[in-house]
Amino acid sequence: MSITKQEFARRRKALMAMMEPNSIAILPSAKEKIRSRDTDYPFRQDSDFYYLTGFSEPGAVLVLLPEREHGEFVLFCREKNRHKEIWDGYRAGPEGACKDYSADDAFPIDDIDDILPGLIEGRERMYYAMGRDADFDRHVMEWVNLIRAKVRAGATPPGEFLDLDHFLHDMRLYKSAAEVRLMEAAAKISARAHCKAMKTCAPGRYEYELEAEIQYACALEGGRRSAYNSIVGGGKNACILHYVENDQKLKSGDLVLIDAGCEYEYYASDITRTFPVNGKFNREQKAIYNLVLKAQAAAISKIVPGNHWNEPHDASVRTIVEGLIDLGLLKGKVEKNIIKEAYKDFYMHRIGHWLGMDVHDVGDYKVGSEWRVLEPGMVMTVEPGIYVAVDNKKVDAKWRGIGVRIEDDVLITKDGCRVLSDGAPKTVADIEKLMAGRKKARA
Ligand code: GLY
Ligand code: MN
Ligand code: MN
Repeated sequence: MSITKQEFARRRKALMAMMEPNSIAILPSAKEKIRSRDTDYPFRQDSDFYYLTGFSEPGAVLVLLPEREHGEFVLFCREKNRHKEIWDGYRAGPEGACKDYSADDAFPIDDIDDILPGLIEGRERMYYAMGRDADFDRHVMEWVNLIRAKVRAGATPPGEFLDLDHFLHDMRLYKSAAEVRLMEAAAKISARAHCKAMKTCAPGRYEYELEAEIQYACALEGGRRSAYNSIVGGGKNACILHYVENDQKLKSGDLVLIDAGCEYEYYASDITRTFPVNGKFNREQKAIYNLVLKAQAAAISKIVPGNHWNEPHDASVRTIVEGLIDLGLLKGKVEKNIIKEAYKDFYMHRIGHWLGMDVHDVGDYKVGSEWRVLEPGMVMTVEPGIYVAVDNKKVDAKWRGIGVRIEDDVLITKDGCRVLSDGAPKTVADIEKLMAGRKKARA
């Protein structure tokens, strides 16, 4: 299960159809990054670059030249090198780029300074994401200046620089059937991993042990990369939104919040579950938990084509405000609390984000000054939370230090939506049942 060559070709074609006449687009691959001294971070291709090529090597540059007679898709890449391949692994080389990745033309990356200016010359407009990579920006300007220096000899440098992101990121926002299948696979793998964490959790284990359970379960099913750094926060650590230390001991009587998801074939999942370390919610934990779950359901009920991006968020805010007033954590009228944003002491983030090849995926949330209208094929997270700070003196001590978030990955469909990550239980009853089974299994 992966994206076919035909689909990569369709993407390039669709993008080129949106480009202005007589233009060129240049996209560099991601770069290898040093982790320490002579070891690198695991390499991960740039999402835009991969979306258009399926090519996962570093040291490459994609060039799109709509209506070029000798081919529109040009790839610069590392040459084959017997010695380097023995040490560092396979390279497609320019020949493989044509044969296996359908490039019309491919050249060694080391020849780019000699060849690319010739491809740019005569194109009036250039699409290039200036400002993402200072080194590459400099190269692009050098190539353009080389052509500018030959204007008197009749050369035509591009006179207009345009951003490709708008077109490209809008395409990425709408997932094809094949992309949905991969995102569903990613979500299912991660959901099973969350079940594994619930089943193996016990007082006295460390947060990093659950992190390891999740990573192991995902990797065994092909989700070898995490889509982002896992968050495993026991007790009050759940109130730190981007907690990644994950080094504390889990205590009976506390909740643990796990926000973790794998990437599968370049597509992200992003799931949060919060559950009791000892398998049983106490009264306050249950009250807060059920309120977050209710807010999530309210948000999901607003995910239908035609509604705008902010409607699920507004629904979650209203539900949380009403519930916090009922529980005595907020005082006064619902409307006033909403207008004054008093709920932000407890719910300080938004309902979610687009999800795709990047966890916080590309795509505009507004069109002009209006919230974007939801359409089939978009995928978003729905992740309300309530976090009661340990030092919040305005609330009864029994609530302090409780942090709950519930996050699912939701595909917008023709007539509503589909939760891709529902393989991980989230009602109090289902979580307690799964965890009760665990105790028996361990006894
Ligand atoms: N894990 C990042 C997020 O939930 O947005
Ligand atoms: Mn998350
Ligand atoms: Mn998220």
